[in-house]
Amino acid sequence: MDRRHLLRAAAAAALLPLGATARARPARSADFATAVAAHPIYAPFRGVDDTSGNIDGEALVRGRWPEALRGRFHRNGPALYERGGERYHHWFDGDGMVQQYTIADGRVRHRGRLVRTAKLASEQRAGRFLVSAVGTHVDGGLPAGGPDHFNAANTNALEHGGRLLALWEGGSAYALDPRDLSTIGPVTWRPDLKQVPFSAHPKVDAQGHLWNIGTFGPSIVLWHIDPQGRLVDVQVGESPYPGGMVHDMAVTERHVVVPLPPVSFRIERPVEGPRRFALEAGQPLRILVAEKADLARRRVFELPAEMVFHVGNAHEDRLGNIVLSYVGAPDAWSLDQGAVAVMSARPARGSVARVAIATLDLASGRAPVRAQQVGNAEFPRIDPRLNGLPARGLLMASGWRGDADHQGAFRHGVQWLDTDSGRLDRYDYGEQMIVEEHIVVPRPGGRGERDGWLLGTTYDARRDATVLNLLDAAHIADGPVAQAVLPYRLPLGFHGNWAPG
Ligand SMILES: [Fe+2]
Repeated sequence: MDRRHLLRAAAAAALLPLGATARARPARSADFATAVAAHPIYAPFRGVDDTSGNIDGEALVRGRWPEALRGRFHRNGPALYERGGERYHHWFDGDGMVQQYTIADGRVRHRGRLVRTAKLASEQRAGRFLVSAVGTHVDGGLPAGGPDHFNAANTNALEHGGRLLALWEGGSAYALDPRDLSTIGPVTWRPDLKQVPFSAHPKVDAQGHLWNIGTFGPSIVLWHIDPQGRLVDVQVGESPYPGGMVHDMAVTERHVVVPLPPVSFRIERPVEGPRRFALEAGQPLRILVAEKADLARRRVFELPAEMVFHVGNAHEDRLGNIVLSYVGAPDAWSLDQGAVAVMSARPARGSVARVAIATLDLASGRAPVRAQQVGNAEFPRIDPRLNGLPARGLLMASGWRGDADHQGAFRHGVQWLDTDSGRLDRYDYGEQMIVEEHIVVPRPGGRGERDGWLLGTTYDARRDATVLNLLDAAHIADGPVAQAVLPYRLPLGFHGNWAPG
């Protein structure tokens, strides 16, 4: 099949997992309001409403924001959960909202904007849900027109090539203007590549080149974008595990590395019951390693079964092996019941993750794994200058307290794992806090992974407010050196990135 024809056919196939099979009708907003009154730490899952979709505010600053730290921190996450008294069931269903924190001269300004996707625009006009999502079936929805019909643009935000990209797993990147967060529209990298999925976890290498994957049906796509935001190359290959979940990826100097956890989708099952999403019995965790220059030159490693959302990093060692770090969980609880429980303000106990470091031997196919227990951890990040290169530090949002609020989807601290020594440096934000992803921001002109800051948000349930925190990467246990307390609460987000300048 001609490559361009394959891309078009695969784009149409991407529709099937969502709209065709979700069965649960929307929940009731009133039921959530009752539930959250009993468990107020779930308040961020109210989301924003149609009229409050634009938020602007000046934060109350505590401590001292360093002069050298100037730029924009963007985050993205599901934010609009309810329309006309109806409510989504699954955390991932909500429409995306990009949060922008502009830091300069000791001040922190915040701006939040819903991404004006085609889906959002049509539902705004109708005043009701029109489009089915991963956890919610909507009757009488619009006819499907491609993956972007479902695109909620709700997973990650990254400035690259002069544009701010709002990223989602199954469709186009949405471009926003970083000056005011206005939505420009879906990015079509080349006319024949319209709506071909551009996933939510691209990696930018030390030269500024962006690498990403996209998956749909039986195919996997490798994207290469230059530092100016222009398409260099796109390749299509066969997925080693068609139909499964593929969320994140890594690059090394010569390779792309893609974990394919054996997640099965049975979304005809009741949304509040178990095992709509589950690890398929007897199936391994596959790791696809392919050459960046030729996606067909590849090897597929089989590791012990594990749920993997996120990689830490990958690099090539002196022997030519690929060393891959990732956060692995023993089951798909967080995607399955965890992401449903939070949407109904129900405390639920989740599984505990580990950091795994696999050494992938391209010559023999062997893949020994060493692992470290890290509590209830997620959102691994590294010094962004080291994507694809050896990095010792792995930063995670984590929970280790064992109190009821922090055994499920919520975390109360940050941990820095030294992957060489196994040492953990941590800071505990405390009870009544939800800790979101923290990122590593290198000090301008600084040297080394610990010469910089950690930047991340928390939800403080006592204040009912979102707080931006800055920690010294060399003194994590001391806690924030500066904070910016917003005069409001934001929905919880997933991922974000720093743009200096
Ligand atoms: Fe993610």
